[in-house]
Amino acid sequence: MQETRHRVLDALADGPVSGPTLAEQLDISRSAVWKHVEALRDEGFEIESGDDGYGLDSVPEFGGAAVEYGLEAPFSVEYHDSVPSTNARARDLAAEGASDVVVLADEQTGGRGRLDRDWSSPSGGVWLSVLFRPDVPMAHAPVFTLAAAVAVTRAAREAGVDAGIKWPNDVLVRHGDEERKLVGILTEMEGEADRVSWVVVGIGINANVDPGDLPGDARPTSLLAERGEPVDRRAFTQRVLEEFDALRRDPDGVLDAWREYATTLGRRVRVETSTGTVEGEAVDVQFPGALVIETETGTEVVSAGDCEHL
Ligand code: BTN
Repeated sequence: MQETRHRVLDALADGPVSGPTLAEQLDISRSAVWKHVEALRDEGFEIESGDDGYGLDSVPEFGGAAVEYGLEAPFSVEYHDSVPSTNARARDLAAEGASDVVVLADEQTGGRGRLDRDWSSPSGGVWLSVLFRPDVPMAHAPVFTLAAAVAVTRAAREAGVDAGIKWPNDVLVRHGDEERKLVGILTEMEGEADRVSWVVVGIGINANVDPGDLPGDARPTSLLAERGEPVDRRAFTQRVLEEFDALRRDPDGVLDAWREYATTLGRRVRVETSTGTVEGEAVDVQFPGALVIETETGTEVVSAGDCEHL
């Protein structure tokens, strides 16, 4: 959001304030104040104008300005009602040199998942990609995927949903013997071996969507289905971004947080890797995100693959 617009909102949030006072506080003309107020109304902010001046009545349910407003993390948010893929858009922004930008959408028409799969993204979800430029070697980047899983799991738990993480980054909810997928994460990056240029962490959260509208083979669930009522997408997105921001600054602390929510550790697993299948008991995770598996023949450390709980 534009800096002055941000300051207008902050001033309005503190109570009714007259146009001339606002103009003086922000060092802009009265007609500029009016233009900012109109622009904010267009974005869905309800701003009353009474005898005491302008007052903020309500913040929109979702959108770029809504998420940026009150966000305690240094991201700007580019919002789309509908976009092919927030990851694709974030990659374009990366090519333009942007950083610390979140691309957020209500709907994706060409959402992409891991292993070149499609990712169904109907209206009502929280489909977002965080673009940033960490000062780390490429080999460390997987830790940000784990960080994203932790961030969403924490936000989901705060929203009353008992989510856990299946290695490496599926956020799931248990229903008896079945685990249903709530969130998927797709990380993309570019750089040299010794230094990442940019990372895009794409997070797909089945928020206020009906799982019946999602492909059944993925055994999906949603925040709506788990809670029995819609989640406040604005507050939820802010929590995810704030948690993710804190975790990305502390890559070494991510694994401990991940272990806290992991449903994979202590379980028998089968992991399909690019070089074959590894089966055994998952005993730990290693920086930057590899799974340690005790097999019949010894210990194997798997850095990527499709994991199945047995
Ligand atoms: C998976 O296969 O589990 C990962 C799914 C990742 C989906 C998200 S939605 C936001 C971002 N944009 C995309 O096109 N994909 C990711």
